[in-house]
Amino acid sequence: MGFYTDRVLPHLTDKVCGARANDPLRRRVCAGLRGDVVEIGFGSGNNVGFYPEAVHRVSGVEPADIGWKIAANKVAVSRVPIERAGLDGQALPFSDDSFDTALSTFTLCTIPDVAAALTEIRRVLKPGGSLHFVEHGLAPDESVRVWQHRLDPIQQRIAGGCHLARDIPALIADAGFDTVELDRFYQPGAPKAFAALSLGVAR
Ligand SMILES: C[S@@+](CC[C@H](N)C(=O)[O-])C[C@H]1O[C@@H](n2cnc3c(N)ncnc32)[C@H](O)[C@@H]1O
Repeated sequence: MGFYTDRVLPHLTDKVCGARANDPLRRRVCAGLRGDVVEIGFGSGNNVGFYPEAVHRVSGVEPADIGWKIAANKVAVSRVPIERAGLDGQALPFSDDSFDTALSTFTLCTIPDVAAALTEIRRVLKPGGSLHFVEHGLAPDESVRVWQHRLDPIQQRIAGGCHLARDIPALIADAGFDTVELDRFYQPGAPKAFAALSLGVAR
C-alpha cells in the first residue's frame, strides 16, 4: 500500500478523528449499543471509552496494523473485551446473525465498495439488530456539494480513499436497512464540505 498509507495516514487519522470535538458525537452514536458489537473501521480505537455498560464484547474490523498499535493501550484498559476479528468490512469473517449491534464512525466514506460492506453488516446482524453510525458525506446544500465534488479527488488521494460526497443515509437504505433515527447537521468549527454529518440508527 505504501509508506504514506501504511505508516503516516493512520497517525494523521488518529489525530483528526480522535479530536476532543468528536467526543459528543461518539457518546451519542455509541449510546444504544448492546450485546455483541461489530465495529467496522475500528481505526485507533477512538470509540473505546464510549461503549455503554450494555456492550459485552467488541469485534473490531480494521485493516491498518498501525491503527491497532495506537489502540493497544485503550484496548488493554477497556472494561469491554475487544478483539481484532477481521480486516475488511467488505468481506466479514463471521456467520450470519452473529451480532446484536454494529458501529461505524467516519468509515463508510472510505471503504471502497461501501454497498458490499453494508450488505455484510446486514448479514451478520441478528434479526432486530441495529447499525449505529456517524459519518460525513453529501451535504444538504447545493453550494456545499459543488465544493465537495471539486475537492473529492484530492481528498481521496490524501485521505486514504475517503470520499467527500457519498450519500450515506441513501446507501444504508439501499442496503435494505430501515433508518429509525437520523440527524443530519454540519459539525461546528469545520469547513462545511468536510462537516456534513449523518448520525443515526438503522435496523
Ligand atoms: C477515518 S478512519 C475512522 C476510524 C475510526 N472509526 C474513528 O472513528 O476514529 C477510517 C477507517 O476505515 C478503515 N478502513 C479502510 N478500509 C476499510 C475496509 N475495507 N474495512 C474496514 N475498515 C476499513 C481505515 O483503515 C480507517 O481506520
